[in-house]
Amino acid sequence: MNLKEALKGKIQEKDEQYIYRAFEIIGDIAIIQVPKEIEQHKMLMAETLCGLHKNIKVVLRKVDDVSGKYRVGKYETLIGDRTDTIYSENSIRLKADPTRAYFSSKLGTERERITAQVKDGENILCMFAGIGPFPINVAKVRNVTISAVEINPAATALFAEGMKLNRLKGKIEIFTGDIKDIVPNFAEKFDRILMPAPKDAPEFLDLALDKVKKGGIINYYSFVPAEDYDDLEGTVKKQCADLGRKVEIIAKRRCGNIGVCQYRGAIDIKVLD
Ligand SMILES: C[S@@+](CC[C@H](N)C(=O)[O-])C[C@H]1O[C@@H](n2cnc3c(N)ncnc32)[C@H](O)[C@@H]1O
Repeated sequence: MNLKEALKGKIQEKDEQYIYRAFEIIGDIAIIQVPKEIEQHKMLMAETLCGLHKNIKVVLRKVDDVSGKYRVGKYETLIGDRTDTIYSENSIRLKADPTRAYFSSKLGTERERITAQVKDGENILCMFAGIGPFPINVAKVRNVTISAVEINPAATALFAEGMKLNRLKGKIEIFTGDIKDIVPNFAEKFDRILMPAPKDAPEFLDLALDKVKKGGIINYYSFVPAEDYDDLEGTVKKQCADLGRKVEIIAKRRCGNIGVCQYRGAIDIKVLD
């Protein structure tokens, strides 16, 4: 039974149309959306959800979408006295707190895809590391070295806690600060650079191209209007050419819709020279 069905008869029929069927679960936290039109029912909705899913201990209402440099949304706590939780995906555990740092449970399959590409021995840079879902997934199963850079100190604190929840094969070093300040100071070049932040990615492509080895890979993400998706390889190739590097696009994947007619595109770039 879903929330809409469970609320039948408990709220007026005219209000039912406003109930969102979908909600996100991160560990034992459920994140629901309650439109203004049915705000008076928010506690009933939260309690009903907890009745349907006994593992949910905290219910947050998302009141504003992710925004700002840290990409954190705004939430109202409806049930529970904490906002952090432990989230499991693939073979790892993460410490998450959606009120303090970005995290999306929807990208687990993409993180699995990237992990499968990585080989033991790689030296990897992860830009926009957040609470560490990409680095921790990779380092769990590969003997690699990862430098992870993230500007939100709350995210890197959660990342450090999350690392302790996993027995990792690889090594991760976390750097808290702006990529533009930290990355130019790395003396080495990397076998692979992960760029899991589609919003501002083009702004950082020059830094990635500067720090990747010849023959290395950049796992690049970009938001793209649906009508431009077919041209994404060409667009990225041209951006790289304009920055003086010859590249080959070795894979392209759509991993999620962002709003109406806007896709999150994943592009795997091999840097040839
Ligand atoms: C969309 S989130 C992705 C987080 C993580 N990669 C994930 O998949 O959960 C983008 C992240 O980039 C961080 N960020 C934004 N600008 C940054 C910058 N200039 N330097 C370092 N981190 C930055 C934000 O704080 C945020 O945590």
